[in-house]
Amino acid sequence: MHENPTPPAPKLFTWEFASDPYPAYAWLREHAPVHRTELPSGVEAWLVTRYADARQALADQRLSKNPLHHSEHAHGKGKVGIPGERSANLMTHLLNIDPPDHTRLRRLVSKAFTPRRVAEFAPRVQELTDRLIDGFCEKGGADLIHEFAFPLPIYAICDMLGVPPEDQDDFRDWAGMMIRHGGGPRGGVARSVKKMRTYLAELIHRKREDLGDDLISGLIRASDHGEHLTENEAAAMAFILLFAGFETTVNLIGNGTYALLRHPEQRERLQRALAEGDASLLATGVEELLRYDGPVELATWRFATQNLVIGGQRIAEGDPVLVVLAAADRDPERFADPDALDLSRRDNQHLGYGHGIHYCLGAPLARLEGQTALATLLRRLPDLRLAAAPEDLRWRGGLIMRGLRTLPVEFTA
Ligand code: HEM
Repeated sequence: MHENPTPPAPKLFTWEFASDPYPAYAWLREHAPVHRTELPSGVEAWLVTRYADARQALADQRLSKNPLHHSEHAHGKGKVGIPGERSANLMTHLLNIDPPDHTRLRRLVSKAFTPRRVAEFAPRVQELTDRLIDGFCEKGGADLIHEFAFPLPIYAICDMLGVPPEDQDDFRDWAGMMIRHGGGPRGGVARSVKKMRTYLAELIHRKREDLGDDLISGLIRASDHGEHLTENEAAAMAFILLFAGFETTVNLIGNGTYALLRHPEQRERLQRALAEGDASLLATGVEELLRYDGPVELATWRFATQNLVIGGQRIAEGDPVLVVLAAADRDPERFADPDALDLSRRDNQHLGYGHGIHYCLGAPLARLEGQTALATLLRRLPDLRLAAAPEDLRWRGGLIMRGLRTLPVEFTA
């Protein structure tokens, strides 16, 4: 009698893995659910892949977000975090800090970045969406990443923050540098981060003299028990809103459109529902697209502040822990038929926006942009189709995010 041998461990972080990481994640969930691996940067980290462990780890306050807790920090390797944020003095943003600082800053930003502000912004998002589609709809074809998914979130968040229209193309360029080279040469990214930082600091300074209705003015005004954001905190906050709200939304629109094009029966269902004026499938559908192939593959860095155990695995103080949202959201222990796309899926508590105190602050804006973008695309370009073979599409190779480099499509002009 031979026992079935365990198939060999899959190679992670190759090009093949980047185009479809889900089989490798299924292997890890089954055979090595909390798995220590060397990342392409050379840093070693634990990958948490099961839904129950992932959800628990995201809310575990013994895991710190502060990179100073990284055991390698002492050796000055400094390989974790956003390139350039250290030198640009942007470290004190929400994704790098723990309570009580996190609680204070999150409370302040929540007073300015409210669901109501987002709801009032809906007509503007629709306008931006239509303007971008106007730009390519006569051509019969487009690269939906460069011509649509990429510019929409950057213009949207710039508008919301109060960056004047004439400066928004600079942001487009800086953001383009970050997204193109996110996993590559760090020098260019660091320079773009610094330029953004300098610009935001000056903008905050100007707004302080002349407050308006925009989000930066809201951040300056926000107060809690007499406390305000310092200028540096306001700059770090504006920066993280841009940084966290940009590539994520590009990927929601890109991955979401791609998934719909690969599942014609689901896409037709959605088109029919929208034509009948029923928006409920759009709402559950965008949540399902986040679960099925979400923008954030791995939640951002966490570090053990003491020796601890996750899913039966001992983790040493100082070790980095990466929660693999993409693996957790396909866990068959949590989701029925997890590899199927079902736009009407109920019981869909996916982890695409994280969980616990760092749960995505921008989720209402991301939902608004995702729903507006997908519904408008399907309405205005009803016969939208892929113009490349799926195996020819390239995925960006960054560690945290999952998204396409290009998405060539065709449609009747
Ligand atoms: C946090 C996902 C869009 C702002 C997070 C986290 C996830 C996430 C997974 C938690 C990370 C962690 O715990 O390590 C997404 C997805 C988006 C999206 C999938 C788009 C579909 C946005 C937008 C904004 C934004 C549009 C703002 C304009 C933030 C901020 C945090 C965050 C500020 C940090 C919150 C904290 O630490 O308290 N997001 N996000 N996100 N997100 Fe989003």
